[in-house]
Amino acid sequence: MSDKKAQLTVDGKTFDLPVYSGTDGPDVIDVRGLSAEGVLTFDPGFMSTASCESQITYIDGEKGILLHRGYPIEQLAESSDYLETCFLLLHGELPTPEESKKFRDTVKNHTMIHDQMTHFFNGFRRDAHPMAIMCGVVGALSAFYHDTMDFSDQEHREIAAFRLMAKMPTIASMCYKYSMGQPFMYPRNDLNYAENFLHMMFGTPCEEYKVSKTLAKAMDRIFLLHADHEQNASTSTVRLAGSTGANPFACIASGIAALWGPAHGGANEAVLTMLEEIGDESRIPEFIAKAKDKDDPFRLMGFGHRVYRNFDPRAKVMRQTCNEVLEELGLEDDPLLKIAKKLEQIALEDEYFVKRKLYPNVDFYSGIILKAIGIPVSMFTVIFAMSRTIGWFANWNEMIGGSYRIGRPRQLYKGYTARDYPKK
Ligand code: SDX
Repeated sequence: MSDKKAQLTVDGKTFDLPVYSGTDGPDVIDVRGLSAEGVLTFDPGFMSTASCESQITYIDGEKGILLHRGYPIEQLAESSDYLETCFLLLHGELPTPEESKKFRDTVKNHTMIHDQMTHFFNGFRRDAHPMAIMCGVVGALSAFYHDTMDFSDQEHREIAAFRLMAKMPTIASMCYKYSMGQPFMYPRNDLNYAENFLHMMFGTPCEEYKVSKTLAKAMDRIFLLHADHEQNASTSTVRLAGSTGANPFACIASGIAALWGPAHGGANEAVLTMLEEIGDESRIPEFIAKAKDKDDPFRLMGFGHRVYRNFDPRAKVMRQTCNEVLEELGLEDDPLLKIAKKLEQIALEDEYFVKRKLYPNVDFYSGIILKAIGIPVSMFTVIFAMSRTIGWFANWNEMIGGSYRIGRPRQLYKGYTARDYPKK
């Protein structure tokens, strides 16, 4: 228990509240006992609320630090890859070479989906947004695995983790193929995770698809940079759904739905739309003014963050990857990249953004890379969802494997007091 205390006095009554310290980051005040005293705290948007204990990811917003199980994101992006980071997020340590081979082989052996699932796609219009299809198809996975649905059993949870990590790229690429009217491509076990995804996205049965190692490396880095990010909106959604005992496939589907919003994972798609709307560097001041105008709902997509009051460390790595990919593809003069760089430079010098500590976030450059790789804009958030599946699952698994209670926030009621139904 904690020997630190905070005191809260309400209507003359003083409450002693325990204060807990983490291994890093701010202390927390335990307010759980207040409801029994008829007192509630009020925190819409959870600006000042720690919803759980976790050991997975740590963010220092002031310093622009992001750690996964203690390892800085910059070092993981430089020296690790997505599947090794998945192992780290799930198990807390980097894998031994033997553990790594077994982990990768197990993922490879789960990449196909049940053939019956292909029929789900036919129910959608060809122009359905792929995030709508992802929500539906991922949620439906639970209908195929009745054999391993006892999630108090760690082994069942582990099997579910492999199924989700392995099948998300297959389902995502099927969303794309369906929209193109092209046949679904089967996964190939001779390719690594990112190569296999590009093969399923852009390959056809008519000829051998030559996977670019450069693009596969860039794809893998995008997966890695999006893998997990503490208790963001979609991860908190997954935890809340999981706290009711819902199965992990349904919980991940709820995370996909939450991620879709333009304020969250939908921002990468919105950044590209914004850059294309700006169209020319000469129009940047007009859009900066719109972003600052309180009467205009427009926001500079890809800028700002609830936690980071400094550069999002992922944005720095993403910018470097963007330069590498476009140079490799001979697209260093890409007009959208030039607008993005000019927009970033202007925003970082503008007092409005400086005062509010609004910096580029993970979504600002990712869309330019994805577009250069040939991924359509409508698939950007799908790729974010694929990447974040491991982070959602690791948080769900940490909660289910420990002690937890059903999440049930309260409210500040501002409606009618009791009144009688009018007599007939
Ligand atoms: C992700 O939480 C996570 O970790 C998320 C994520 C993850 O990995 O899971 O990092 C992924 O979602 C990144 C964020 C992607 N979203 C966007 O790029 C959309 C644009 N950004 C904003 O909508 C906004 O910055 C948020 C939603 C990201 C954060 O919103 P907050 O924390 O609620 O901040 P706020 O809206 O209270 O803004 C504070 C001030 C306001 O001005 P004032 O009322 O003080 O005058 O800053 C302004 C806002 O108007 N502001 C912006 C702005 N972002 C904030 N003004 C113009 N353009 C922006 N982008």
